Amino acid sequence: IGDSGVGKSCILERFEKGSFRVNHVPTIAIDFSFKMLKVKDQMVKMQVWDTAGQERFNTLTASFFKATHGILLTFSLTDKNSFANTSKWLQQIRANAPKEAAIILVGNKKDLEAERQVPREEAEVFAQQFNVSYFETSACTGEGIEEAFLFLGEQALTCIEGNTSKLAQNDLLEPNSSGSKTKCC
Ligand code: GTP
Repeated sequence: IGDSGVGKSCILERFEKGSFRVNHVPTIAIDFSFKMLKVKDQMVKMQVWDTAGQERFNTLTASFFKATHGILLTFSLTDKNSFANTSKWLQQIRANAPKEAAIILVGNKKDLEAERQVPREEAEVFAQQFNVSYFETSACTGEGIEEAFLFLGEQALTCIEGNTSKLAQNDLLEPNSSGSKTKCC
């Protein structure tokens, strides 16, 4: 997620197909894609939802947070407003996403160093304050893209495994494991 034009669709296209498009074709509502990825020695099918950054889709976007295991919050290194708006996006995440969902902050368009408006240190301090990891990427050159998704995948898998083991523990702790149910669902 992130503001319109920061490069979300390009990041996903680079990750999925290894290509880059120069034109900005604003995402309408939401796009979806998936990729098989080796994470922690396991092949996982990573489903990625590419949300629209335009404000008119905010309500729809927020509705997709509910079932997520990981969020890549993106801003453009060449647009300080998009960086300022990450606070707003984080509030939406906190309000709608599961608490245990992994979040990473991504400063994109690293190849446009001469047009940089957000110093790395400033973004790192911000990320630390919110306890999220920070990556700088370029969908144009591919720099940092695989690393960011891999890291997010690892965090998401940890989140899923945690939930699964919690569920398993709850099953084990279920007092009526004999099969006689006393509670109504
Ligand atoms: P919405 O769908 O409106 O939310 O936008 P978006 O965040 O998906 O942006 P999109 O991926 O369409 O990219 C917007 C523009 O930025 C396009 O013209 C891209 O070519 C350009 N762009 C994206 N990533 C990079 C990058 O890493 N470097 C450079 N130089 N341009 C980029």
